[in-house]
Amino acid sequence: MDTVQKLSEESPVYWIDLPDGRSLATINLTPGERVYGERLVQRGGVEYRTWDYRRSKLASAFLSGLESSLVKPGDRVLYLGAATGTTVSHVSDIIGEEGIVYAVEFSPRMVRNLSLLANKRKNIVPILGDARYPSTYSDFVNEVDLVYEDVAQPFQAEIFVKNIKMFLARKGKAFIAIKAKSISQVEEPRKVFEEQRRVIASADITVSEEINISKYHKDHMVFICKL
Ligand SMILES: C[S@@+](CC[C@H](N)C(=O)[O-])C[C@H]1O[C@@H](n2cnc3c(N)ncnc32)[C@H](O)[C@@H]1O
Repeated sequence: MDTVQKLSEESPVYWIDLPDGRSLATINLTPGERVYGERLVQRGGVEYRTWDYRRSKLASAFLSGLESSLVKPGDRVLYLGAATGTTVSHVSDIIGEEGIVYAVEFSPRMVRNLSLLANKRKNIVPILGDARYPSTYSDFVNEVDLVYEDVAQPFQAEIFVKNIKMFLARKGKAFIAIKAKSISQVEEPRKVFEEQRRVIASADITVSEEINISKYHKDHMVFICKL
């Protein structure tokens, strides 16, 4: 039996068999280095890093049916809400040395960790910035193939729209993980998602896919969008 399998034919994301079950994984861009306590696994002379879906909306979306070619080798990615770089590190693995990920985060403490990560991974550009005000970092960010947002705060869709308008290439794609409870503690999640969808669509952005990841992250929905 194969112990490593691509998620789909063109996929840069893998299933890897382990003694205690199987896990998503990416090929480690910096062999020997862990980022968040994940496992490093050698197969056929290649080192893989396991990818914990409980700590990543992107991994959860792949498990819930998102086409894994959303992020590809060589892609330019604007990542909003980078935190300490858990998911960013897997994006960094996937895009490889030819790609670049602009990682925006407004907590100085988290950006310190991101900067340590970026010292080792040359395709990460850490940016201490507030995603609500994209013009404050527009000098550091070029046009991108993917806008990715996971900020877990009110006005998630409005922030998404502003960043798409400023940075997304015509043929690019955009991913938003919406956390219903960050927008309203009382409203039914379904209604919150509908309202966020309306905000996005009214800015002439097409929501091409909806992926419910609530099985892995409570009351979360992912939208895949394009211009
Ligand atoms: C759910 S966590 C992100 C987890 C991360 N995406 C991952 O998968 O590893 C949300 C992050 O967004 C950051 N954040 C929230 N609002 C922000 C804003 N307006 N600008 C930049 N970062 C923001 C928070 O500080 C927090 O680190």
